Amino acid sequence: MLTTAPRGTKDIMPADVKAWRYLEETMRRICAQYGYKEIRTPVFEHTELFLRGIGETTDVVEKEMYTFNDRGNRSITLRPENTASAVRAYIEHKLYAEPAPAKLFYIGPMFRYDRPQAGRYRQFHQFGVEALGVQGPNIDAEIILLAVQILQSLGLKDLKLKINSVGCPKCRPLHREKLQEFFKPHFAELCKDCQSRYDRNPLRLLDCKNPHCQELGTGAPSLEECLCDECKDHFAGLKQLLTAAGIEYEVDHNLVRGLDYYTKTAFEIQYQPLGAQSAVCGGGRYDGLIEEVGGPATPGIGFAMGMERVLLALESQNLLPDSEEFMDVFAVCPKQEYFPAVFKAVIELRRAGLKAEFDFQGRSMKAQMKQANKVNARHVLIFGEDEFARGQVVLRNMSTSEQKEIAITDIITNLQTEV
Ligand code: HAM
Repeated sequence: MLTTAPRGTKDIMPADVKAWRYLEETMRRICAQYGYKEIRTPVFEHTELFLRGIGETTDVVEKEMYTFNDRGNRSITLRPENTASAVRAYIEHKLYAEPAPAKLFYIGPMFRYDRPQAGRYRQFHQFGVEALGVQGPNIDAEIILLAVQILQSLGLKDLKLKINSVGCPKCRPLHREKLQEFFKPHFAELCKDCQSRYDRNPLRLLDCKNPHCQELGTGAPSLEECLCDECKDHFAGLKQLLTAAGIEYEVDHNLVRGLDYYTKTAFEIQYQPLGAQSAVCGGGRYDGLIEEVGGPATPGIGFAMGMERVLLALESQNLLPDSEEFMDVFAVCPKQEYFPAVFKAVIELRRAGLKAEFDFQGRSMKAQMKQANKVNARHVLIFGEDEFARGQVVLRNMSTSEQKEIAITDIITNLQTEV
C-alpha cells in the first residue's frame, strides 16, 4: 500500500508532462484570445459552499465529496468542481463592481469519490471557464465556441455538441409536477436515492445511474413542453448564433447535468469512443448561483473540460505531440581531478541559457558517453587528458560525429554558435 498511489489517483510522470503542458498551453492561448483571465482558488473550501452551490440532491454532494473536519472543527471539502469556488471568489473580491462580464478560467485538480475506471478518477483535473454578469444568449454562444475552438485546435474529430434548455425557476415547477405525476405509479420500483429525490428534486430522477430507474424514465415528460417564453427565446437565440458560427449541434432534451445550479442553457461535448465517460466537456448557465451563495443576483455561464478525458481522446486519435527531450551538451569528465573545471564549464553553459549535464558518479568514459546518448545530448564536451593539459577540450557533434578541439575559455561562444 505504501508504494501505490491511492485508488482513483495517478502520478503524471515526466514522460506524460509534455502532453499536459501542450494541452494547458493551448487552453491558455485560446483563453487569452477570448479575453479570459486565469484565477486560482484554494483546493478546499467550506463544505457549506458546495452544499448550497451544487445542490444537496446531487450525486456529487450525496456520495462523492471528500469532506472532513479540520483541527479547528470546521467542515472542509476538497473541491469537487470549481464553479462554486469561482463564484465565491467573485463575490469575495467584489468583481461584480467591475464592468461585466467577469471572464475567468482555471486549470487544476478536483476531487470526487467516484467509482474509478478509464476516464473517471477520484483526483482529476479540469480546465474550466466562467463568464459572470451577463444575460442573453450571446455569451452562451461565445462560451460554447471557446470550448469547441479549443478541442478543434487540438485536432480532435468526431466530437458531438449537445445542447438543451433546463428552464428557470419560473417554468421548472410545472415540469416538476409533471415528472412527479409520471413517476408516481412506479414509486415503489425506484431506487432508494430516487425515492428520496422524488419530493426534493424529481429532475434528478432522469440523471440516476441505476439501469432500472433509467428504464422507468423513458418517455418522461420533457422540460421542453414546459419552458416559459423567456427560456424558449433564449434557447432559440443560442441556436441561431451557433448556426451562424457554423457550429454543428444536436438538441438533446434529455441532457440533464449532474449539478443543480443550471438554468436555461446546458451543454455537453461528447467523444463517443470514451464510452460511459464520453463527456469531455460539460457546462451551462447558472443564473441563480451567485445569489444562492450570498452575492447580488447576477447571471453566469461556464463549462469545464476533463483534462484526462481530453488527453485520452487525443491519444486515441494519435494527436499527442512528439515527446522527444534533449540536452544541448553533456560534459564528459574522464578524470576526477578535472571535475572542478567540468563543473565550472557546465555552470557557465547553464548561465548562458544552454541545457547542460554531467556525470555525478565518476563513472568510466564509456558509461558517460552512454549517458550522453541516453539524455539525447546534441553535443558532448570531452575533457581528455592531453587536451586538458593544453587548456583545450574536444567538442563532438553527436549527430554528425564531427569533432574539434576548442579552448576551454571558448566553450560558450562555440556552443552558442552550434545550437
Ligand atoms: P461536470 O459535468 O461535473 O461539470 O464536470 C465537467 C467535466 O469534468 C466532465 O465533462 C468530465 O470531462 C470531467 N469529469 C468530471 N468528473 C470526472 C472524474 N471523476 N474523472 C475524470 N473527469 C471527470 C462541472 O464540474 C461544472 N463545474 C462545469 C461548469 C462550469 N458549469 C458551469 N461552469
